[in-house]
Amino acid sequence: MLFLGKEIPSPLTLASGILGISFSSLQRVIRDGAGMVTTKSLSIEPRIGHEGPVIVEFNGGLINSVGLTNPGIQDGLEEVEKFHNQFEGVVIVSVFGGNANDFVKLAEAVNQSSADFLELNLSCPNVEDEFKRPFALMPEKVTEIVSAVRTVSDIPILAKLSPNANDIGVIAKLAEDAGAHGLTMINTLGHGMVVDAIAKRPVLRNNFGGISGPCIKPLAIKLIYDVSKVVDIPILGTGGISTGLDAVEMMMAGASAIGVGSAVYDHGLDVFKSIREEMEVFMDSHGYSDYSDLIGILEEN
Ligand SMILES: Cc1cc2nc3c(=O)[nH]c(=O)nc-3n(C[C@H](O)[C@H](O)[C@H](O)COP(=O)(O)O)c2cc1C
Repeated sequence: MLFLGKEIPSPLTLASGILGISFSSLQRVIRDGAGMVTTKSLSIEPRIGHEGPVIVEFNGGLINSVGLTNPGIQDGLEEVEKFHNQFEGVVIVSVFGGNANDFVKLAEAVNQSSADFLELNLSCPNVEDEFKRPFALMPEKVTEIVSAVRTVSDIPILAKLSPNANDIGVIAKLAEDAGAHGLTMINTLGHGMVVDAIAKRPVLRNNFGGISGPCIKPLAIKLIYDVSKVVDIPILGTGGISTGLDAVEMMMAGASAIGVGSAVYDHGLDVFKSIREEMEVFMDSHGYSDYSDLIGILEEN
């Protein structure tokens, strides 16, 4: 199937932030049936992120407050080159900055690499103390950042949106109008908090974190469905996918490709293989010959 003009063997995509940037772990995901991999979000300078514990599991998914730990754009792009020197596969480089100028500098650096797509992380909820509100909640910032990057980027741009926006349809349309070639949605939900009753404290050192995993799947599907009605650009749907049926449902709601994040923590890297096989079984038994036959075919009651 095609995604933004690139031929991919399956719509499955490693979501940002899950396996860092090491090219050896990225290639394992491609070997197991993913069509694309997304790097951890990269900033201009390296970042240490928050003190641990930064990830906690609860009986609906995960809460994390990693705080965008990353080695910086230069080291990150070196891993992309190592990856492309040895393997086939579409690499999405995720970046974030504190203002439009940072995003422009990052896009210019990515232009010098073999990255296939550029994902703008406008929606991380875990660095509000530093960067104030996520850009994806502020319509004028979405327009400013996406249009600034569009003027410099040599490769297609995906804008990553937040489920916390008041009206994600409005934000999505602004991103499209500003020149985004596609959307990635959703980033983590909340903040949420998990409490250790014995210690009488939150489990996360940072107290709060973004919620991901199975509990956000119905929300992700609804928001993707809504957004697919108002934009003409493809959506990389992400949020709570861990089975082939989950992925089929999200594609029917309007996603053109599927990001998988928290399920890697729950089920290990084999999850890409199992999701892909389960999708194929569903498609064979229900008469769909290509992944793209699933996109946006949901009918409302
Ligand atoms: C531990 C962890 C770290 C993450 N780091 C990033 C990140 O660096 N950049 C980003 O855009 N999203 C990040 N995310 C969000 C995921 O890419 C994804 O949008 C979200 O978790 C929903 O998908 P899921 O339910 O499949 O995990 C992170 C998620 C988790 C669980």
